Formats: sequence, C-alpha cells, structure tokens
Amino acid sequence: MSNKPGILWFTGLSGSGKSALAGSVQRYLQENCGARAYILDGDVLRTGLNSDLGFSDADRAENIRRAAEAARLLADAGLLVLVTFISPFRAGRQMAREKAVPFPFAEVHVACPLEVCEQRDPKGLYRRARAGEIPQFTGLTSPYEPPEAPELRINTAELTLEESTARVVSFLLAQGWLEMQ
Ligand code: ADX
Repeated sequence: MSNKPGILWFTGLSGSGKSALAGSVQRYLQENCGARAYILDGDVLRTGLNSDLGFSDADRAENIRRAAEAARLLADAGLLVLVTFISPFRAGRQMAREKAVPFPFAEVHVACPLEVCEQRDPKGLYRRARAGEIPQFTGLTSPYEPPEAPELRINTAELTLEESTARVVSFLLAQGWLEMQ
C-alpha cells in the first residue's frame, strides 16, 4: 500500500489530543501501509519557523498561513501531511483548505470538551492561564470556533487512542488517500 499526497488538518483545543492522534496515525501508516506521513505541529513550528509569533489573533492567523503554505509544499513532495495546530478560526482553516488545491484536504475536529482538556492539562498551561499568567489562552480568554462541517469529528474523551486512530485510517482508505500498490 502507498499514499497519495494530501493534507489532514487536525484542529482542537490545547490538550484535546491532536498531537497524540496524529502521532498514532503516522505510526500506523508507516508500519502497516508503508505510507509517507509527516507531522507539522504547532508547538514544533513555534520553536523555529514561527518563533517570531505570539498568540494575538493576527499572529495566530499568520501562524496558520505559514503552516498552510508549508503543508502545501510537503504535499507537493508526495507526503501525506498531518497538521496539528489549534487553528481556532474558521477563516484560517478555510484559507488552508483553499491553499491545498489541487491536493485533497480534510479537517479533523479533535473534539474534546474544555473541562476534559483542562483536567488533563498535560503542560500545566490551563492552571497558569487561570492564574492570569498566560493571556489570550484558547478556550478561556481567546475564542475557539469549532468546525461546522469537518470531514471527521473525533471525541477523544469518549474514544481510546486506538479507536480514534482506526477512524482516521478508515477515512483515508474510504477516500482513496491510501492505495494498494
Ligand atoms: S494556534 O492558535 O496559533 O493554532 P498553535 O497550535 O500554534 O496555536 O500553538 C498552541 C500551543 O501553544 C498550545 O498547545 C500550547 O502548548 C501553547 N500555548 C502557549 N500560549 C498559548 C495561548 N495563549 N493559547 C493557546 N495555546 C498556547
């Protein structure tokens, strides 16, 4: 099996499980399908390419614009690109979809209730944001606009990582992004 190039865009709150899910999908695809999948992660890009950007609405829009451009280039190189950014604004995600043409693009809403993300708080950021130490924190003091019609919606509070991974892989198979050689 091999992959067609394409962009799978994971959006969701901090702590919703975007990176864990994309990492699991990447492992599954590499081990079982020989697919070439690459992860573009918000936390990672913010240490390099996007290290000049903060969390104002304008900086987040620029963050997403660069991520969308980078994803398009990687798709051009034949990769299945897994993009994991909060990407809180519908307009930014729509722009990413338009930039992806002619490659297929699908939005995966990693839908996990704010209360659960806050309970998980893997990086302690919700606690710090509640204490007033982090301004403009998504879900608390900065908005998150959930996708209205994502190709996939996965509630990581209700599914195991394996179940979530299987849903994504089934979607890719059904859409013809993975093909028998
Ligand atoms: S986005 O909104 O511009 O798409 P991005 O995905 O790149 O965000 O980065 C989100 C990550 O930055 C979070 O997972 C968290 O680790 C960290 N972070 C730091 N400050 C904030 C903040 N104010 N709001 C959201 N995430 C933040």
